[in-house]
Amino acid sequence: MKFEEIKKQAENCRKCDLWKTRTNVVFGEGPTNAKVMFIGEAPGFNEDKQGKPFVGRAGKFLDELLTAAGLKREDVYITNIVKCRPPNNRDPTDSEIKACYPYLDFQISHINPKIIVPLGRHASKVIFERYKLPFEGISKEHGKTREISNLFGKLKIIPMYHPAAAIYNQSLKGVLIEDFKKALGNV
Ligand code: URA
Ligand code: SF4
Repeated sequence: MKFEEIKKQAENCRKCDLWKTRTNVVFGEGPTNAKVMFIGEAPGFNEDKQGKPFVGRAGKFLDELLTAAGLKREDVYITNIVKCRPPNNRDPTDSEIKACYPYLDFQISHINPKIIVPLGRHASKVIFERYKLPFEGISKEHGKTREISNLFGKLKIIPMYHPAAAIYNQSLKGVLIEDFKKALGNV
């Protein structure tokens, strides 16, 4: 099925209870042939209002990180593990992640990026599971490139700390900037 059709399906989705409290479904944004795909956790307040990923404070910092790595936001695809905002920005539950996973799975298959960058431990855990990689926690895995072979050649998986984590923990800000520069600076 075509990308726009699946996107429309998601925009009317009621597969988990998050539909009851959402304003907009945040499917994702960016070119559907992007080489790099960023995957956050879930939409927050501003994302839910605008229907776009990473447009609030964490998004502003993500923009800075992209610039530091020499990437343009309009060249990358950005989405989240779950497409609807959990009330009060709580963590998505395992059953919500499971219900929403087919959308992400479709996005990855269709876009077929060369590099996947999961942001934070939730997204990293889901992506590591998808590729059957053992996940040892974000503090161990951040900034490290994992290379795997698939039908289409090589795929890199580069987990990063979540940009929002640096808002609460200033010491992570420098780590994130360095990780982005080092791992994504010449892709
Ligand atoms: N945090 C996320 O994980 N995703 C967004 O889209 C915004 C904030
Ligand atoms: Fe559907 Fe995902 Fe929204 Fe749940 S979070 S209602 S599965 S789009």
